[in-house]
Amino acid sequence: MRISVVGGGYVGLVSSVCLAELEHSIKLIEVDENKVKAINSGIPPIYEKGLDEHLLLHAGRDLYATNSYEDLASSDLTLICVGTPAGKDGSADLSIVESASVSIGKALRRKEDYHVVAVKSTVPPGTTESLVMSEVLRHSCKSINEIGFAMNPEFLREGLALQDFMRPDRIVIGSSDERAGDIVESSYKGIDAPVLRTGITAAEMIKYASNSFLATKISFSNEIGNICKKLGVDVYEVMRGVGMDHRISPHFLNAGVGFGGSCFPKDVSALIRLAENMDLDPILLKSVLEVNDRQPTKIVELLIKRKGDIKGNRVAILGLAFKNDTDDVRESRAELVIKELVRRGASIAAYDPKANASMQKRIPDIEYCESASDALTDADACLVLTEWPEFGELDKEFDLMRSRVIIDGRRVLSCKNSEGICW
Ligand code: UDX
Ligand code: UDX
Repeated sequence: MRISVVGGGYVGLVSSVCLAELEHSIKLIEVDENKVKAINSGIPPIYEKGLDEHLLLHAGRDLYATNSYEDLASSDLTLICVGTPAGKDGSADLSIVESASVSIGKALRRKEDYHVVAVKSTVPPGTTESLVMSEVLRHSCKSINEIGFAMNPEFLREGLALQDFMRPDRIVIGSSDERAGDIVESSYKGIDAPVLRTGITAAEMIKYASNSFLATKISFSNEIGNICKKLGVDVYEVMRGVGMDHRISPHFLNAGVGFGGSCFPKDVSALIRLAENMDLDPILLKSVLEVNDRQPTKIVELLIKRKGDIKGNRVAILGLAFKNDTDDVRESRAELVIKELVRRGASIAAYDPKANASMQKRIPDIEYCESASDALTDADACLVLTEWPEFGELDKEFDLMRSRVIIDGRRVLSCKNSEGICW
């Protein structure tokens, strides 16, 4: 199948590479000229495990990037994968989706055969029908019989995105009619997973509800963790027992410094805003964010409890990415913690195996170190904020510290004398 993908960010690029693996021919439309060049020369503009070697296999063969919508009409299916960042009031900013829909509509004017436009970006329920469908039809001057619409949410975890695409728990396809849904479904031929066919708005809601539920599990574990800490009980032991109930499952019950990333905080906020706009008061979802916002403060408070005044202290920060196996720092808890420590007069020595450069763009004026040892040398305290497995192997490196106050925000350390944020 010939597939055009609009947007070459995490979702667009990973989807393009995986669809090329499934023997489709891919045209990737991306506005950023530098990204286009990098992709065509086989170099991913982002770090994602396994993406480099797979992109190299397909770039210039069955995967071409371009900044023009010109060839879109020669594809059978278009996937919208542009970003949907949080707007000022927490609702999803749909301006990029809108401009992509206008460009897709214009490009489809010349097309004679049936075409399908599927939204993969996370969009508030109702968006595909009220915005994408209407703009594409208006600018293409075509009818719903000539262009079919679908919403096909992605469930890709950064760091595991290729694996999540090729071996998903399920594939959700909401469509305007059966024909459009069938075309999207056939693009997944070769993947062994249950397919759930729904209406378009239900598919949009499935994505928000899934991410909100996963975020709720984490905030729940953090709340239980905060109680466990006071009780002197190990929350990881507790959640192991809880997760053994098959109705709950053991996943996403890891307590710590909270969730970040480009999805959970933004999607829960957008769902809250959507509910409020319909005169509902989503108190559970609001609490999920509130617990999450408090965890970074908790780790700083714990540090102050151990050290007293931290003014002038050198604090080693291990981990800047919002999670391991990525260089992404969007909504990273580390950014909040570092800013609070700096505000209180501490100096920071930060180290992340992949994300030093991305954090440096946001916080330029702290020290970035080449290794954990460099960050720990002469440190008065150490906070671990990302679950990188390599931190679990650190041991003698902590002897380099001036004083051994080590607080683990991710339950990754195995060294002696460390304390957990909520264990
Ligand atoms: C994706 C989804 O789009 C988002 O809805 C979901 O919630 C999270 O994952 P992501 O792929 O991470 O977003 O976004 P981003 O990395 O910002 O990529 C979007 C890409 O689209 C960028 O490369 C950007 O340059 C490109 N873009 C943007 C276009 O090609 N055209 C535009 O008009 C605007
Ligand atoms: C998430 C969803 O999992 C994916 O399905 C969706 O479509 C995109 O958003 P991602 O944000 O890449 O994926 O990472 P994820 O593994 O879900 O982790 C998100 C955050 O939660 C990270 O900051 C992580 O550290 C934190 N987390 C995760 C916990 O604090 N505890 C856990 O038990 C699991």
